[in-house]
Amino acid sequence: MLNPALIDLLACPRDDSPLVTDAEQLKSKGGQAVYPLLGGIPFLFAEPGVALDEWRGRYHARLQQVAEEIRRLQETLARDDLHALTRKRLEDSVSALTVHIDELKTLLEPLDVTHLTADHTTYLALRTRLPEDQGLETYYANLHRDWCWGDEENARSSELVQAALAGHDVGKLLVLGAGGGRLAYDLHQAASPELTVALDLSPILLLTAKHVAAGETVSLTEFPIAPRDMASAAVPRELRSPESAAPGFELVLANALRPPFRPGSFNTLLTPWLADVIGASLADQAARWNQLLAPGGQWVWFGSHAYRDADPVQCLSLEESAAIIADAGFSEPEITEAEIPYMVSPASRHGRRERVVVMRMTKTTDVAAPARHVALPDWLVKSDLPVPSAEYFRVQAAQTRIHAFFMALVDGQRTIGDMARLMEEQRLMPAAEAEGTIRNFLIRMYEDSRGYSTF
Ligand SMILES: C[S@@+](CC[C@H](N)C(=O)[O-])C[C@H]1O[C@@H](n2cnc3c(N)ncnc32)[C@H](O)[C@@H]1O
Repeated sequence: MLNPALIDLLACPRDDSPLVTDAEQLKSKGGQAVYPLLGGIPFLFAEPGVALDEWRGRYHARLQQVAEEIRRLQETLARDDLHALTRKRLEDSVSALTVHIDELKTLLEPLDVTHLTADHTTYLALRTRLPEDQGLETYYANLHRDWCWGDEENARSSELVQAALAGHDVGKLLVLGAGGGRLAYDLHQAASPELTVALDLSPILLLTAKHVAAGETVSLTEFPIAPRDMASAAVPRELRSPESAAPGFELVLANALRPPFRPGSFNTLLTPWLADVIGASLADQAARWNQLLAPGGQWVWFGSHAYRDADPVQCLSLEESAAIIADAGFSEPEITEAEIPYMVSPASRHGRRERVVVMRMTKTTDVAAPARHVALPDWLVKSDLPVPSAEYFRVQAAQTRIHAFFMALVDGQRTIGDMARLMEEQRLMPAAEAEGTIRNFLIRMYEDSRGYSTF
């Protein structure tokens, strides 16, 4: 049963019309657009079918990948030259990964993968479809920080944001890119907003947040980047919140760049560790966030300020960020900085300290709404439009043909020298030149293949 106070704020991410509930889903007023609930969380992507298929694909691919990892470990365990400790470590990894598959299946059961049967090889071939920067378990480590060992980090973050909000009415709070949801939860418990909406695009993060905020315990193995010792390589963790969230703590799965809310819905908007990773210019974000705020509403930026972009114009300094925000209908940001621990897992040798930025600004004027954000062109989203023959695709196609030719030469017998002579016989390249080219190509294939096969 969805909270009516949340439904009142929702708008169709396609045409901005209000949404209404209809059994276990949400509908635009005219009924043209239908949005499901995923494990009870509104799934408000503009193309919900495509987004659901994508997440299912990533989920299925991840399960296949873990199963493949287990298979390789078992293959290695068949060797008789392993040190006893190495054998134990590998056996422990097999057990932990087997448990992890079950954990993922339990948590992501709402994604329902039963109709997907593509095997591991198919997913490898398709991997360009799944952006590396937002796979199924991207930011998975945040869940353990949020709901298990991160008391100090969580408290410092919450204190800094609360200090910025002190003396200002929070009203209705929207947290964009809420991740595992801890900061949104802490603010909801401490600052008593009228309503807190935590939005993210990752199902694994928000499904976990939903369970723990309801007072349930979620079992999830932690795999630290740099385990302290053998026992730390895979640590069974119990994720839980200090207490159930007070009423009015709501979750929404959606793209923040297509925020599914009516204009002026919120009094406070928080973007924790989001603005410099979201992949949209700050000017574009500021204009979008301006639209979401009621007159006099406030925006709090929190987190790292680390712009890395191929476009040098977008590699912003703090001064430029403040000026861009003030130009988008906000007051001059009030800026504070503090050094806090960041992702310091007790099981890992890896951990950071970050000099974080907190900026608070008040909306002073309405600005024009930016154009609707388009993540993918129509021909990728719809199945009945021709795929354009772009220059990039033509180059890729030519490269793929050359790669296929090289790969066809690999028969388990030929040497690099044999292949180079064949290239010369076919008048494709002089043998001396072909040798280097083939070697470089095979080095790349060999390095790509490491982790998937043994030579
Ligand atoms: C660096 S993490 C920060 C997570 C959380 N705020 C925290 O401090 O732990 C960035 C978060 O933004 C989310 N995110 C990135 N792009 C997004 C988008 N376009 N819409 C919604 N969420 C997004 C990611 O899924 C991730 O949870």
